[in-house]
Amino acid sequence: MTGKRTRLAVGLAAAAVALAACATNAPQDTLDPAGPYAEKIDALFKPVFWVATAVFLLVEGGILYILWRYRHRKGRERIPPQIHGNTRLEIAWTILPAVVLAGVAVPTVATIFDLAAEPPGNALNVTVRGHQWWWEFRYTDPEMQVGDNLPLVTANELVIPADRPVYLTLESAGSEFGNGLGRAVIHSFSPFRLAGKTDVIPGKTNHMTIQADEPGEYPGQCAELCGFSHGFMRFEVDALSPADFDAWVAGQKEEAAAPSGIAGDLIASTCAACHTIRGVSTAASTAPDLTHVASRDCLAGCIFPNTREELAAWLRDPPARKLGSFMPDYNLSEEEIEALVDYLETLE
Ligand code: CUA
Repeated sequence: MTGKRTRLAVGLAAAAVALAACATNAPQDTLDPAGPYAEKIDALFKPVFWVATAVFLLVEGGILYILWRYRHRKGRERIPPQIHGNTRLEIAWTILPAVVLAGVAVPTVATIFDLAAEPPGNALNVTVRGHQWWWEFRYTDPEMQVGDNLPLVTANELVIPADRPVYLTLESAGSEFGNGLGRAVIHSFSPFRLAGKTDVIPGKTNHMTIQADEPGEYPGQCAELCGFSHGFMRFEVDALSPADFDAWVAGQKEEAAAPSGIAGDLIASTCAACHTIRGVSTAASTAPDLTHVASRDCLAGCIFPNTREELAAWLRDPPARKLGSFMPDYNLSEEEIEALVDYLETLE
């Protein structure tokens, strides 16, 4: 009975694994590279995978063969011939793995240096800040500035031009550095189809180059356990055609219209302490820049679609929607929430 049950459990687990491998809707499939940098990683990974598979089959096959060949049988009490001290054999099985490792190491090291090199001069520069638990994107090129040396800043969605390298500078933000609300911790920026993943380390600046061949949406997420809402620290890379990207930049550079009434009072008294809304208040930037929040597809670490309902639900009680959120529950009345949502929805 137990044997049957075990066999059933193993069978079901195997079926689940096999079925999971067949997902057609896999937007974060690292085996489906969508740009030249991801392709370089893929071109290294695939041959190494097959070399490792060959080694695995040889070693495991050898073990199974020896298990079968020298198994215990009645009337055969004798130990099989021992080959300890065979110099020729020992030299062979030292050199052979060394040759295989060298064969893997040469392209690996070459690819590491290739990926670490600074991209060509036409690259777009973006500083990515990992916060607990959302991503901030700061466009630092001179033509992307919005007055007084201020970079264009967005959150959750990294908008890039297609077919052009984007050189990312990765930083961990936190209260220790005065540019975040949570602790500065290790995150990992992982736009799987555009590049691998790179750790974001407090006090250290890392770099990564991404590029998308075609316009499209490329979701990614934080891939390093970074606290309560690590699992809710997603992002989206939106690659646009060059013309669409220029139009997006022009739109993002515009300032927001000033809020009035209840929304105006709340933003001045509460929201502006952490959020920037260019044209209204630029004093703080420890929470997402809201100047064009309505132009984004997703909210709060890209875990909710950007709709009226979700925005209202978020304002009603942020930590209830996202564990550990550094935006507290301000116990807003429904009237206040309605007024804020009405205003935020105008920020396209
Ligand atoms: Cu940030 Cu996990």
